Order: sequence, then C-alpha cells, then structure tokens
Amino acid sequence: QNVEKTSLLAAYEFTSKLYPYILKNTDEGKPAMNYLRSRGFSDKLIDTFQIGYAPPRWDTLAQLLEKRGFDLALMEKGGLLSARQEAGGYVDKFRDRIMFPICDAKGAVIAFGGRALGDVQPKYLNSPESILFNKSRTLYNFHMARPHIRKSGELVLFEGYVDVIKAWEAGVENGIATMGTALTDEQAKVIRNNAERVIVSYDGDNAGQNAAYKSIAILEKVGCQVKVAVLPSGLDPDEYIKTYGSERFAREIIEASVSSIKYKLLYFRKNYKLQEDGEKLRYIQHALKIVAGVTSPVEREHYVKELSSEFHYSYEILWQNLNEIRLQTEKNK
Ligand code: UTP
Ligand code: MN
Ligand code: MN
Ligand code: MN
Ligand code: MN
Repeated sequence: QNVEKTSLLAAYEFTSKLYPYILKNTDEGKPAMNYLRSRGFSDKLIDTFQIGYAPPRWDTLAQLLEKRGFDLALMEKGGLLSARQEAGGYVDKFRDRIMFPICDAKGAVIAFGGRALGDVQPKYLNSPESILFNKSRTLYNFHMARPHIRKSGELVLFEGYVDVIKAWEAGVENGIATMGTALTDEQAKVIRNNAERVIVSYDGDNAGQNAAYKSIAILEKVGCQVKVAVLPSGLDPDEYIKTYGSERFAREIIEASVSSIKYKLLYFRKNYKLQEDGEKLRYIQHALKIVAGVTSPVEREHYVKELSSEFHYSYEILWQNLNEIRLQTEKNK
C-alpha cells in the first residue's frame, strides 16, 4: 500500500508539471490558453493554481508514464489512465481538458478536475476516488487557504474551482470548495477544526441556493457560525467578479453576507406572493417559525422587529405569536 501510494504520488507530481508545461509551451496548448485568456486567467493565476492542459491525443501521458517505469495498472487504479477495452493497454484518462490539480492538506497533488473547453459533457471530469483521493474528505484549495483561514478564523465556501480561483485574485484568499458534490459531514469537521465562521458563497441559481440551504445545516451541526453571501440570481462568484469587479465582490457580496436565519427568511420568501394579504400572512407564519428556532432571545427580538417594520404588524402581536409557536414546539418534543 505504501509503495503504491508513493508511486502514485510521484506520478501525480509528474503529471501536475506536465500539463502546465503543455499549456504554456506547446502549440497543442494554444486553444486551451486562449480559452483561459477569454475567461480572464492571468499568467500569475495559472501559475499559482498550477493550471494545465491535457492534450487531445490518446496516450501522451500513458507513454510518458510507461517510459518512466510506472506501473500502468496502478496508474489506472489511481485515476490517471483508463484501461482500453479490446485492444488492451492504457490510454490517458483526461483528454482535451483544462486541468485543475486538487491537493491534499500538505499541497501534494492527489487528483484533478478537468474542464472541457467547449460545451462537451461532462463539463467537469473529476478523478475517481483512489488510495490518495477521498472525495468526501478533500476540500479544493485548502492547503493554500489554510494560513488565511487560521489568521481570520473564517473561510469562504464556494461551489466551483473557478470561483475559488477568481475570488483569490479578488483578495478573498480563504476560499475553498467541495469536489462538485454536496458538502459532507467529514468536510464540515475539517472546516470546523480550522475555522469558527463560514461564509457560504454558492451560485445564484436555484441549484446553488438549495445547496446553500443544505450546507447551512451541516455546518451548524458541527458548531460553525454560518453566513451566506447572496448573489444576484443567475450569477456565480466568477461571473459576478467578471461583471462587477473585485471591489464590489468583496464589499457587496462577501462583506455583506447575511446570517443563516436572514438567509432562510429570504430563501422561503420566493415561494410567497407578498402583494396578496393571505400569502403575506402565511409568509409571516413561516418566518416566525424560522425565528422561533433561534436560541438567543436578543436575536429573536431583532428578527421580529425587522418583520414587524417591514410588514407593518405590531411588534407585540408578532412576539406573542412567536412565543406561542415556541410553546407549541416545546410541547411536541
Ligand atoms: P458549475 O456548473 O457551477 O460549474 O459546477 P462552474 O464551477 O461554474 O464552472 P465553469 O465556471 O462553467 O467552468 C460547480 C462545480 O461542480 C462540479 C465542479 O466541481 C464545478 O466546479 N461539476 C460541475 C462537476 O463535477 N461536473 C460537472 O459536469 C459540472
Ligand atoms: Mn497570501
Ligand atoms: Mn452551479
Ligand atoms: Mn458555477
Ligand atoms: Mn462558473
């Protein structure tokens, strides 16, 4: 096992240098470089995140690994090569993709996320789990973000690799992401061990907002204080930065992130037609139910005041209503 790990690590290290070399120094890499340029990636960003390009040929990597004496069956198990069905032998797992290396906590490359240049499906091809790569424990960019996380006690959780990278350039250096999968309890524990506060900054589409709602619960369960950075619908952090710039992203999105309660109130609001009285009352009931779950009385008071002034109901009535809900939940326990 240890021998295999060492060998696979060496292969990943080799590959993580090969792909950036191909991107920056070969004709084959030119379309990929143009693609990255069109998305606003500077040389500095490409170098910092060791971004590379896996060429379209079948066996560029397979041949180089073979020449260097690597065990190709192990390379296949480790996610760098694919076994050929009939002809036998091995071919490259990643072809014609922009390669984002995924590192462990020490910074060793243990997997890749490979993005297609055009509208090819899947858009991202990720390395399979291996003796090096446990998806439910790994967090993208954790090794580089860690000192910044420790210093501030806070981290920003993104959905995509590109979001982490572009946010980094925008000065948000404590950003990490999951592997394109939902946040797991294990990842939440890693997060809690390094940060008290988390800002969830997912895409502004429905999928992203639903995922944010789920991540709040997972993070609060392990004891994190959670805030949510709310993006205009349809934009993800990368697109927001591209449209409105770094300054506004830092100030109007990250700094302006809202408490998890506030986020839940906003999240459910979309389901109600607030111009109609009946709907408005149903929303208030729903909102009070959310606020009733808040432990701190000061916070409860704060949200009831907000609801009262926004919807023009008396504070006393709402507060009374809230306490009835709390009594009811107590009874049901
Ligand atoms: P998104 O679809 O939001 O992609 O998926 P993105 O990060 O904005 O990518 P760009 O900007 O189009 O390049 C978010 C994350 O989900 C995972 C990836 O980790 C991606 O970063 N994902 C997405 C996959 O694993 N496979 C896919 O086909 C798509
Ligand atoms: Mn730094
Ligand atoms: Mn998305
Ligand atoms: Mn996205
Ligand atoms: Mn994107």
